[in-house]
Amino acid sequence: MLQSAGILLLTFLSWSTAEVAKNGSGRCSPRGKAARVEEVPWIASIQSNNTQLCSGAIINPKFVLITANCLTNVNITTVKVLVGNPDRDSGSSFGVCNEIIHTRNPKHTSDDNLSLLKLCEPLTTSAKVKAIDIIDKQPEEGARGSVAGWGSLTKGRFKSKDCWAKHSKVLRKTDVQLLDIKECATRRKKSFSKLSLSDANICSEKRDFSCSYDAGSPLVIDGKLAGIITAGTCLRKPEIYASLYNYRKWIETSTKDK
Ligand SMILES: *[C@@H]1O[C@H](CO)[C@@H](O)[C@H](O)[C@H]1NC(C)=O
Ligand SMILES: *[C@@H]1O[C@H](CO)[C@@H](O)[C@H](O)[C@H]1NC(C)=O
Ligand SMILES: *[C@@H]1O[C@H](CO)[C@@H](O)[C@H](O)[C@H]1NC(C)=O
Ligand SMILES: *[C@@H]1O[C@H](CO)[C@@H](O)[C@H](O)[C@H]1NC(C)=O
Repeated sequence: MLQSAGILLLTFLSWSTAEVAKNGSGRCSPRGKAARVEEVPWIASIQSNNTQLCSGAIINPKFVLITANCLTNVNITTVKVLVGNPDRDSGSSFGVCNEIIHTRNPKHTSDDNLSLLKLCEPLTTSAKVKAIDIIDKQPEEGARGSVAGWGSLTKGRFKSKDCWAKHSKVLRKTDVQLLDIKECATRRKKSFSKLSLSDANICSEKRDFSCSYDAGSPLVIDGKLAGIITAGTCLRKPEIYASLYNYRKWIETSTKDK
């Protein structure tokens, strides 16, 4: 009995190490397909000192929605919002004049991970630069959508420069399907033990070892903004998003007449 458990464990370990070595670290396979910016004109790259910090979504010509942790310890006077180009490091550049961070709920630390950047000048909209509406109903389990972005989140021991650098400069897009939030929490808990997920989050299935797009990457369902990535992964684990249906009132009041 003890012996067979040992063999089982050994088999499992060698399988997972080989898989991760091939696809998880170092040679992260590219996620999705290269996209034209006209397919996702609401996407923005948030940078400081010529470094990508996160992605974001254009909510209206003056505001971009990102994750709250994106600008921790960053002086917003150094932040640039780049829009209108599939190449992450080009496009029109806008300064940030204010940041409105959502108050966090201490009970569910994964919730409320949102912040709004107020641009110093409103964006000029075009086929390549356009705001997107927030979804007007709670998306259901099994719903299909697409997520787009540049970077990849590399966590913990899978922090690999190659994985980050290799495919991150080209805008890419992939189709996803929503997963039940409880199942998602169970599957993610194995690697992130402190995770506490409420219905303020949504989750999508990921079937391969490619890395998720950047934090803040927009998830779109039926042409409306349903979520932004708050916890991606380079493993074959579900991706977690802030479920924006829950935050539409906060977004509306925070951006109104401002
Ligand atoms: C800006 O980036 C350069 C090159 O990567 C680095 O040497 C420098 O320390 C960075 N400056 C700040 C303030 O982060
Ligand atoms: C942010 O940067 C500006 C311009 O470089 C500087 O004047 C200001 O003191 C900085 N603020 C903080 C909090 O470091
Ligand atoms: C919030 O989102 C950031 C991504 O910007 C992520 O690194 C962080 O883990 C999230 N925080 C929580 C508590 O989920
Ligand atoms: C690893 O990547 C290769 C090549 O991209 C692919 O054929 C294979 O299915 C991947 N393996 C897993 C477990 O995702």
